[in-house]
Amino acid sequence: MKLKSHSLFPTIETLFLLLFISFSLQAAQDGKKISSDLFGLFFEDINYSADGGLYAEMVQNRSFEYNPTERREWNPFSYWEYIAPGFSYGRISVETASPIHLNNPHYMVLDIEHIGHEAKYTGISGVGIKNFGFDGMVVKAGDKYNFSMFVRQISKEPVSFTISLQTPKGKMLAETKLVTSSSDWKQYTASLAPIASNDTANLVVLATSEGKVALDMISLFPEKTFKNRPNGLNAHLAQLLADMKPRFIRFPGGCLAHGDGLGNMYRWKNTIGPIEQRKEQRNIWGYHQTTGLGYYEFFQFCEDIGAKPLPVLPAAVSCQNSGGTWQIGGVGQKALPLNEMQDYIQEVLDLIEWANGPVTSVWGAKRAAAGHPAPFHLQYIGIGNEDKITPEFEERFKMIFNVVKVKHPEITVVGTVGPSPDGDDFTKGWKLADDLKIPIVDEHYYTSPEWFISHQNRYDSYKRNATEVYLGEYASWGNKLRNAISEAAYMTSLERNGDVVRMASYAPLFAKKNFTQWKTDMIFFDNVNVSLTPNYFVQKMFSANQGDYYFDKVISKDEKDINQAVSCVKDSKTGDIILKMVNFGNTPKSMKINLSRFGSIVSQAEQIVLTSNADAENTLDNPQRVVPVTSTVKIHKSFEYVAPAMSLTVIRVKTK
Ligand code: AHR
Repeated sequence: MKLKSHSLFPTIETLFLLLFISFSLQAAQDGKKISSDLFGLFFEDINYSADGGLYAEMVQNRSFEYNPTERREWNPFSYWEYIAPGFSYGRISVETASPIHLNNPHYMVLDIEHIGHEAKYTGISGVGIKNFGFDGMVVKAGDKYNFSMFVRQISKEPVSFTISLQTPKGKMLAETKLVTSSSDWKQYTASLAPIASNDTANLVVLATSEGKVALDMISLFPEKTFKNRPNGLNAHLAQLLADMKPRFIRFPGGCLAHGDGLGNMYRWKNTIGPIEQRKEQRNIWGYHQTTGLGYYEFFQFCEDIGAKPLPVLPAAVSCQNSGGTWQIGGVGQKALPLNEMQDYIQEVLDLIEWANGPVTSVWGAKRAAAGHPAPFHLQYIGIGNEDKITPEFEERFKMIFNVVKVKHPEITVVGTVGPSPDGDDFTKGWKLADDLKIPIVDEHYYTSPEWFISHQNRYDSYKRNATEVYLGEYASWGNKLRNAISEAAYMTSLERNGDVVRMASYAPLFAKKNFTQWKTDMIFFDNVNVSLTPNYFVQKMFSANQGDYYFDKVISKDEKDINQAVSCVKDSKTGDIILKMVNFGNTPKSMKINLSRFGSIVSQAEQIVLTSNADAENTLDNPQRVVPVTSTVKIHKSFEYVAPAMSLTVIRVKTK
């Protein structure tokens, strides 16, 4: 039987209409879909963030590669001292004739001419070297430390060594012995177990028999690194990042990525493989990069904490401030010659293969050989870091972008639009993004708290369904509570605009006491203590409480008061509703919350409040002045919340 059009059975058109209505109703209930990668981390080796910081190596200048181009007073012996206790004598020299690897050219030759009587304190005589670490080494009684060094025995006879940890006054904390057994470079390893704790210990490598040896890659790691990874990360600092539950980590910088001149660009291939074969180099921030924390370690760390890796590769041009030319308007950008671009583009493609390719591919095999046969699931690649948008930049960026787009449509490229929130490079960068349809571009700005408060509508008017934004570097100038709260207000606007802002990361991340090049940072540390800034707590409160749907009009506040900012997101994995209330004003502000659209809710909710005096800040001496307070509160479908002056509140509500 043929159905008539007015029968009780719906037509195809009616079915589609019903489906559309039901999708729309669902969407309204679910709110606006926003990025699920919104808040992440920016890591750059600035302020001794890597060597001497997150990277757990305790020996400074382990490979004798320090040199005066990094710092005028530095040389291959920096942070080492020659010692010959017990009336011993000998000689040391730096040589390059037969290194472990050409990438690691310098090593030390120890010629032990005479072993004398026993030394007064340690009871040992010998000839050797002592390392001071990064302002001393922190060792703990009960913990173990993994020592290793490469030795090439030059004399016919084997050479005996005592390896020890000592206090600055020479008191023995831990000791082990080894004897050389090869005239080729060979790695020797040992474990040291201190009998007492000390915050300024030294590592002593003492030859106790006569002979001649070449030494290199003298290394000491705590056994307890983050997740106990070999060549791993400082467990405490890494845990602070893991606690933030970042959705991504951008690395290796910053200016460090595009480098101080072409020879200083960060080339990822130099940073993988056995550490003694990696290419070390001058750090643009005025010190040394061992590259021991290299691409493998970055990717592994991302995987360990469930963050997506976001490597940023140079766009084949160096930093415009190369040679310090920021003083004269940043005219120092250098571009790779065009006849080198083919190889350079291949380097970018090789990274994708290294991260995601099968173990049977050339670069996938190298990843597997390093201990990770499974792919790293690379999704994003940054090309360029706040570069000056010159014709040379544009030409090279296009070449790289076009090839990646064709060969790897599964990879999302992040472009760059200069170092400021507006201006010439910003305009040119966005024009290029529009022309090339770059999926995402990286915006950077460091400015005043007032700017953040008054620009909360910045992204409301950005074009939708076009190039998205990665706010890759931002911070207000300062680490007082008022700085952090201005950033919190701004972050509610990033959530509101999470359909166009794909990612955001505060910068810089770490700063080591007395080794700081950038004043405003998220985490300050020395060898013993850590000071978490209010900015860290704000970042953590947002990052650990992200959602993937945004809801308007759940929280009502005085719309005319720009010192108040609010947002409501839902995490569809847990079903939790997350409310954020910011008050940048100096009096408490009442806000009304209506959760009726969310169905049944659990009345016990988790509340975190960060508040104090506007000028309060944490220091290494007093790290507890501004800390968030977590409690369980009783809430209703509709309730009032009074946001304290200068505060951020997060309330996490469970749904039934
Ligand atoms: O975050 C510190 C520096 O600021 C970055 O290296 C650079 O990209 C920006 O200018």
